[in-house]
Order: sequence, then structure tokens, then C-alpha cells
Amino acid sequence: MKLLSVIGTRPQYIKHASFAIEAAKHCNVNLITIDTGQHYDANMSSIFIEKLEIQDIKYNLGIGSAKHGEQTGKMLIEIEKILLIENPNFVIVYGDTNSTLAGAIAAAKLKIPVIHIEAGMRNHNLQVPEEINRTLVDRISSLRFAPSEDAVKNLVQEGLSTNTFLVGDITTDLLKEIGNKTNVLIQDKFYFATIHRPFNTDSKNRILQILNALNNLEYTVILAMHPRTKNEVNNWNILLEEFKNIDVIEPLGFFDTINHVLSSEGVITDSGSLQKEAYILKKKCTTILEYTPWQETLLGSWNYLLFQDLSNLNKVMNREVDDNQYISSCYGDGNVARKIMDCIFLNA
Ligand code: UD1
Repeated sequence: MKLLSVIGTRPQYIKHASFAIEAAKHCNVNLITIDTGQHYDANMSSIFIEKLEIQDIKYNLGIGSAKHGEQTGKMLIEIEKILLIENPNFVIVYGDTNSTLAGAIAAAKLKIPVIHIEAGMRNHNLQVPEEINRTLVDRISSLRFAPSEDAVKNLVQEGLSTNTFLVGDITTDLLKEIGNKTNVLIQDKFYFATIHRPFNTDSKNRILQILNALNNLEYTVILAMHPRTKNEVNNWNILLEEFKNIDVIEPLGFFDTINHVLSSEGVITDSGSLQKEAYILKKKCTTILEYTPWQETLLGSWNYLLFQDLSNLNKVMNREVDDNQYISSCYGDGNVARKIMDCIFLNA
């Protein structure tokens, strides 16, 4: 069986790594991968490929950054050419980026069945590009692997219950595996933060609101700055040195991120993946978004949504969390890739 994955952004390298480990256990599976190159800085791409030991990338499209239509269109053109050469049995896409959308459309138009890993996530707001991507991809997928009960409910509501499978979140496989690879950092108490969503970075006023809120926290904030955020900070001539409580660092690889989360007093982020990883690692997180598709994380205030008034951030970070409401394996048991593979075999 020939499987072809399409990846291209930081969260997709992480999700794909778990799947590739499982695929390598099956001598009757040939997994090949297209990297669209949507992310291209070393610390957004190659560091993940190396450290996560991803070895099945056969094509790198080098698409890079552009407006959404242009970026997705260029990917579509190139992916279609490769699919015509490779003719895989299934195309696998992960999550909700422009690379996900391009991979799914190219395959569906060639009548190659699409497998969507992390299906059913919704924030019910089609103003958000990722919501457009994941909704369309789920609609044209042949097998949908959902990470949570909530995700399954969304798919059922959209009439997509057939060929939808609740398997858990594939990142739990990696988190289980790396338990012995992490070193908890020994240093003063700190919070770990990442911010990259367009609505949090594309206006000077909003970036300043976020930086001021981080600057006023009780502990130092280690802010691993996404290139989009860095570009905007530079565009607006914001002087990061003026924010004495914020230690700005380059984006981190997966293992370093997990180390920072584990060693921190809590996480502040607008990343879909990081808020869920903080939950799995049982760390308090404040998410700078209006809505989270990871609804389970909100139970017991382990995750807390804060969007309009960021002046409350310090108080919110000092909130109590309720251990009794923590669900330890709500996103899977660390065998998610195996469940997905079993299901692919059954449907091949
Ligand atoms: C993309 C995904 C988002 C995901 C995120 C993970 C879409 C629509 N969005 O957002 O769902 O959460 O990846 O990080 O697909 N840039 C660089 N170097 C890089 C990558 C990006 O400098 O290696 C800069 C460029 O200025 C670029 C901007 O970041 O224009 C945004 O990059 P893009 O890939 O469009 O979206 P992300 O914000 O990374």
C-alpha cells in the first residue's frame, strides 16, 4: 500500500513524525511525503525534520510565504503533478493549514481518497482561515480521524458521521515517547509564551496590548517568537528591549518546547497545538483566543480563554485549577497512530 503525506508547517512535522514511526513498522506500507515548504526558516522546519527523525520526505516544493490564494494555488499545481507520478492509494493530510487544504483538493480531484488526521475541530467562525481549511478538507475526506468527542460531534452535525473515527490526538504518541528525552530546566520561575495568530499580531495596538500584559506578569516570560510576529514587531518599530520582563527567544524545536512547558509556571499562547500540549502535560494555560476547539481543556480552568481585556492576565495566571476535573487521557492513550493504521488497512 502506498501512502502519500502532505506536510509543510511546524505542527504538521510533529503530527507526521508519530505517523511515520507507525508506518515504518509495516513492511507492506510505502510512505512517501511531500513537504510544501510553507515553513522554511530552519527553526520552523528543518530543526523539526532532523530532531524528529523524519526520513520519508521525497519532495520539497519550496513554496514559502505568499497571500493565501497564491500560496495554496502554487501548492495545488505542484502536488497534482506529483500525485500523477506517484499514484498513491491514499493521501494523508494533517490539521488545518493551507498545505492541508492544497493536499486534500489535489487528491480529491484526482479521485485519490483523502485521510484527514485531526478531523472535526471547529471554532464556528469562518473568518478564521484555518476554519475554512478544516471544514472543506473534512467534507472531501474519505476517512476522518477525530482527536476528541467534541470533534466527532461537530462532524456528526455536519452529516459526516460515516467514516469518522474517534482515535485521539496523534501528538499524544510523541509525548509518551519523549518522556525520557526531556530535561526539566532548572532556573527561576517563568512563564512560557508564544503568539502568532494574525488577529493578535497584525496591528500595532494589539501587539502592544499583548506585550504589555506579558510585561506585567509576576514571573519572567520566555516568549518564543514566531517569524510572523517578529516581522510585525519590526514593521511597527516596537522596541522589545523596553519590555524588561519578557525574554524574547527564537522559535524552539519540539523537545525544547516541551521542556519549557514542563519547567514553566504556566503557558500563555494563541497556538491550537500548544494549548492542548500544555493540557496533556498538566500545565496551566491561558489562551489568547475567543474560542478553543479543544473544549475539554477548559474544565477545571486548566485552560482559560482571555481575549478582549488582557489587563486581567496576571490574575488569570494566578487562578486555582481543579485537579478533580482533569481528564488524564482525554486526547488518547499514546497509540493513536496504530489505531489510524489499523483503520486504514480495514478500508484499503
Ligand atoms: C501557519 C498556519 C497556522 C498554524 C501555523 C503554525 C495557515 C493558514 N496557517 O500559520 O494554522 O498554526 O502555521 O506555525 O496555513 N514566516 C517566516 N518564516 C517561516 C514561516 C513563516 O518568516 O518559516 C513568516 C512570513 O512572514 C509569513 C508569515 O510568517 O508571511 C506567516 O506564515 P504562514 O505560513 O502564512 O502562516 P503562519 O502564521 O505560520
